[in-house]
Amino acid sequence: MLTVCVAAAADVLNGVAAAVRNTPGAVLVAAAEDLRTGLAQAEREAAQLLVVDDRLLADNPGLLGRVRAGAWTVVLLTRGADAEVLRRTVAVGAAEVVEADRAAEEIGGKLALYVAQESPERTEVGRVLTVFSSKGGVGKTTIAVNLAVALGKLARRPAALVDLDLEFGDASALLGQVPRATLHDLMAVPHLDQPVLERVMPAVAGGAVAFLAAPGHPSEAEDVRPDVVAEVLGLLRRMYSFVVVDTAPGFRDVNVTALDAADLVLTVLTPDVVTVRTVKQVLDLFADGLRYPPEKVRLVLNRAGTAAGLELPDIAGVLGQAVAWELPSDGAWPVRAANQGQPLVLFRPDSRLAQALRSMARTLVEEQEGRRRTVKERAGGRGGFFARFRR
Ligand SMILES: Nc1ncnc2c1ncn2[C@@H]1O[C@H](COP(=O)(O)OP(=O)(O)OP(=O)(O)O)[C@@H](O)[C@H]1O
Ligand SMILES: [Mg+2]
Repeated sequence: MLTVCVAAAADVLNGVAAAVRNTPGAVLVAAAEDLRTGLAQAEREAAQLLVVDDRLLADNPGLLGRVRAGAWTVVLLTRGADAEVLRRTVAVGAAEVVEADRAAEEIGGKLALYVAQESPERTEVGRVLTVFSSKGGVGKTTIAVNLAVALGKLARRPAALVDLDLEFGDASALLGQVPRATLHDLMAVPHLDQPVLERVMPAVAGGAVAFLAAPGHPSEAEDVRPDVVAEVLGLLRRMYSFVVVDTAPGFRDVNVTALDAADLVLTVLTPDVVTVRTVKQVLDLFADGLRYPPEKVRLVLNRAGTAAGLELPDIAGVLGQAVAWELPSDGAWPVRAANQGQPLVLFRPDSRLAQALRSMARTLVEEQEGRRRTVKERAGGRGGFFARFRR
């Protein structure tokens, strides 16, 4: 069974969606008139084939990298052929091009070919978890590092951890690592692929995490290109069940890339008025500006229960969303662990924060297992498709 997502302008969407539905062996998992929505659905549903309208690409140039980075084959619906169309065709790595006005008639035949050539080979359908906040110092890095370690240990296979705090990334310090290579080094690599990432990402924390460090110096931050970050995340989600991304506060380009690429945005806050107020602005921006579906964003309350802190119902009331996870304040343990260059979940596994982070990881692993089962069932137990169609 071939899972297909269609993102196309209104004039062709219905015809193409119907053609997909009528193709034996193909399942339409999502159809959207808006590219960002379509991509979010395609990622969530682990679509194997993305049929995308060039008009949406022209309207959303910032999303080209994300279209290319997905774990799907791209079929592009074009309207005429000029240099710009060609440029976009190459930019998204389209495997196939179909004229938009003939797409409803022709797409069925193309899909039948893909269905016929499905192979039993599978790639990982990993989950990108972007740890984000409007504020500094709320615990993003502590959570990202320890969550990655806990996920890797629980799932008994490494989780990837990417430090996208480009100027002052300190995940390597928390892991006690001197990075072999950094995200900055990847900018000079002409062709990124899985073996390259395997080479630059050492296994750390007892093999629980494959780690990609932030640039070694703040001056290198501006060299890190969002399209390369999108490509790296796209590759990693095919290699690991979980890809945890730590970020710096704010909406700079690479952060938006990591947010767009995320299956889940773990929005970290602390129980104080100033943070809650800015997080409210973040949530509004996610919903209205970036048009993320509500289920993409989860709230993580760090230092929950802090004396004089806001109460949980008040926080949820202001934010209009329940807190998904509460992580307790844990005195000096996180700082001690950091000073030792050891993740807290390994340094002090019985501490309250380590226990809460492990429980959070457990929920995520369970969700991922459920999700994988759903994809497998939908694909009749035979996901993937021939390498011929893989970029
Ligand atoms: N639950 C907690 N209990 C006690 N200390 C904590 C807790 N969470 C984080 N800390 C401590 O708070 C400080 C800030 O945490 P961290 O560096 O993880 O925040 P951050 O959001 O990544 O900050 P930045 O925005 O500067 O990157 C660190 O010293 C960390 O050890
Ligand atoms: Mg940090």
